[in-house]
Amino acid sequence: MAYRTIEVKPCSPVIGAEIRGVDLTQPVSDEQFAEVHDAFLQHLVIFFRDQKGPMTPEQQVAFGQRFGELHIHPAAPHLEGYPPVFVIHAHKDSKLANGEQWHSDVSCDAEPPLGTILQIQLLPPSGGDTLFSNMYAAYDDLSPRMKAYLDGLCAVHESEHFYRGRYADRGVNDAGKKYPSAVHPVIRTHPETGKKSLFVNRTFTTRIESLPEDESRAVLQFLYQHAETPWYQTRFSWRLNDVAMWDNRCTQHMAIWDYWPNERKGNRVTVKGDRPV
Ligand code: SIN
Repeated sequence: MAYRTIEVKPCSPVIGAEIRGVDLTQPVSDEQFAEVHDAFLQHLVIFFRDQKGPMTPEQQVAFGQRFGELHIHPAAPHLEGYPPVFVIHAHKDSKLANGEQWHSDVSCDAEPPLGTILQIQLLPPSGGDTLFSNMYAAYDDLSPRMKAYLDGLCAVHESEHFYRGRYADRGVNDAGKKYPSAVHPVIRTHPETGKKSLFVNRTFTTRIESLPEDESRAVLQFLYQHAETPWYQTRFSWRLNDVAMWDNRCTQHMAIWDYWPNERKGNRVTVKGDRPV
């Protein structure tokens, strides 16, 4: 697509593009939204640079809703009054930071989020980058024999081990709460592009169904390492009020917590997705 209302600068030939010319504190026209949506599908993760300031929660929710209904996080606390807004926050007293391990957001849900929109509104003096990896490329590079082996296999994605007690220091009491788990194809087909991607990750995927335990573990280890190959990646260094939007159906990401004891904070909304097929 030739873009008329936005400027699109790829970060690499494989994944990611910087977008200029969009002010997310203002309503986005239909024409501009169509171009942003196209860039999102083309580049898998898009970075809106040069934002004028923080989006209000209403503005971020409204932008997310252009892509579809918003998803509510099953574990994390939300911004008061805004159930779809998840505050990403790490500081000197934090025991953990969000997304420190490679993952696709909330893949433990039966219908995991299509995409995630994050604006970082408080930055450490340095560090706090986020890595993104292209899961179409990871699939394409598998050998024909491995593709045939994985074809039709499904994997279990769980969250009990990951979410239980995770947000206790942010006031979440999860006693009696049941965290989601789901079974998804190891190779999924993107509902909009029709392309195949690798859909297992070390945060939520616990085993491949119908394989012996040790074989499942060995295959998953291979796939995790393969998915994390630097060739498939881009690394985003945030500037204040930058906004990233990534496609959870064909990427994984990992946030680098190298800035402790400094603080980093932002608001995140996720858009509901389909059941992976
Ligand atoms: C996440 O949503 O996984 C966190 C990403 C980030 O903080 O950069």
